[in-house]
Amino acid sequence: MRKKLVAGNWKMNTTRAEATALAAAVAKGVGTDDRVGVAVCPPFPWLTAVGDALTGSAVALGAQDVHYEKKGAFTGEVSPAMLAECGCTYAIIGHSERRHILGEADSAINHKVHTALEEGLHAILCMGETLAERERGLQERVFQRQVYAACAGLTDEQFGRLVIAYEPVWAIGTGKVATPEQAQEAHAFVRGKLRALYGDKIADATPILYGGSVTGENARDLLKQPDVDGALVGGASLKPDSFLAIVAAARG
Ligand code: PGA
Repeated sequence: MRKKLVAGNWKMNTTRAEATALAAAVAKGVGTDDRVGVAVCPPFPWLTAVGDALTGSAVALGAQDVHYEKKGAFTGEVSPAMLAECGCTYAIIGHSERRHILGEADSAINHKVHTALEEGLHAILCMGETLAERERGLQERVFQRQVYAACAGLTDEQFGRLVIAYEPVWAIGTGKVATPEQAQEAHAFVRGKLRALYGDKIADATPILYGGSVTGENARDLLKQPDVDGALVGGASLKPDSFLAIVAAARG
């Protein structure tokens, strides 16, 4: 059985005081209950303060991105070892805002996944089609390309720390959530690709989260789908009540 994971992606939001208050409220709500994995991903500058606020709870700390080299002359970038030293166990990689606004390519994403996993982090690899791709019926081609490119060369041991997040770009921050059937269909396709490429063990063990306008109200039906193993939550992760409602839905 795959354990469910609910991860909050705070994006470029919160002041330091808001971030620590939000983290403290999430930590209080979750306590030490680890039936469902819970992680929050604040902006880089708040990582250590948020990590302190999570102390003693089962809530894990994650980053929203990571660089693909381990160290060196990469102005403005942050390495996986730095994130680990800040207390992170997760790093989101290949979020659609990075792919589409910042031009991150599949090859860089593959490199980031490798480096993050080599350095012991869990990678939350994001993938998903744009509205134009879905309207042209190209989504499965996009999934295949993104999964194939991002996972190329990973060892079985590294796959043990990979989480995939299916996030249709048209559903992110738009309030237009995928239907449970659309999510299940996409997740089953991605799992099928993992099975064909890497075998049953990896396909059955890899968590696939859904992301895109998840709320406390729609989470239950999405999370009931057999191949939906949790949620990557943007907007609704900025309020403790709505985030904790999604965690409660994941617990079933
Ligand atoms: P949203 O964002 O929940 O605000 O749609 C999800 C994400 O970008 O991870």
